[in-house]
Amino acid sequence: MHQGPEGLDGGVDLAEVVAPGVNEEAKRSLLRQLPHGVYVVTSGSGDRAHGFTATWITQASFKPPLVVVAIRHDSQSYASVTASGAFAVNLLRKDGRAIAERFFQPPSASGSRFGELAFHAGDATGAPILDDALGALECKVVHVFDRGDHSVVVGEVLGAATCRGGDLLLLADTPWKYGG
Ligand SMILES: Cc1cc2nc3c(=O)[nH]c(=O)nc-3n(C[C@H](O)[C@H](O)[C@H](O)COP(=O)(O)O)c2cc1C
Repeated sequence: MHQGPEGLDGGVDLAEVVAPGVNEEAKRSLLRQLPHGVYVVTSGSGDRAHGFTATWITQASFKPPLVVVAIRHDSQSYASVTASGAFAVNLLRKDGRAIAERFFQPPSASGSRFGELAFHAGDATGAPILDDALGALECKVVHVFDRGDHSVVVGEVLGAATCRGGDLLLLADTPWKYGG
């Protein structure tokens, strides 16, 4: 599942091709302008269910349907997603800021709940789906690229379900920053 650096850059030593002296200020401000949604990525099941707020997520293929999620390599979240081999991307509604805040520090699960938030097991992978989400994409982990402080986890979409519906909460709707 893991692919080394040679698979990432075709054997080219990136240190030689990355321009030195990147303008830090421009890099930060431009990267922060990339549009992002706000999601809760869940994995595991039952009392071992795990969830964390994520924003570095995008679609990466039509056929098969793939999404990529960047997950901090040294986090419990990364350990949970890679150990379970599946995850759900819970899309949050515009009114879902309090849910996102709940998952800044991954809460423990008990009896199909993260605290006051109920979840159910997805049909396709068993990954937790938040009842209050806009909807959820269930994914099987098909590849992990370990390179930087976040690993790029590639998931194949095996299931999709609308929960409450509505419009997606965007990072730009919030005062939060994650990027740069
Ligand atoms: C607005 C926001 C967006 C975030 N996006 C990501 C993300 O895309 N990937 C990630 O690994 N962590 C992201 N985090 C951090 C996680 O939500 C969480 O703090 C982290 O997983 C906790 O570490 P742990 O899994 O070791 O408990 C984000 C945090 C905030 C506040």
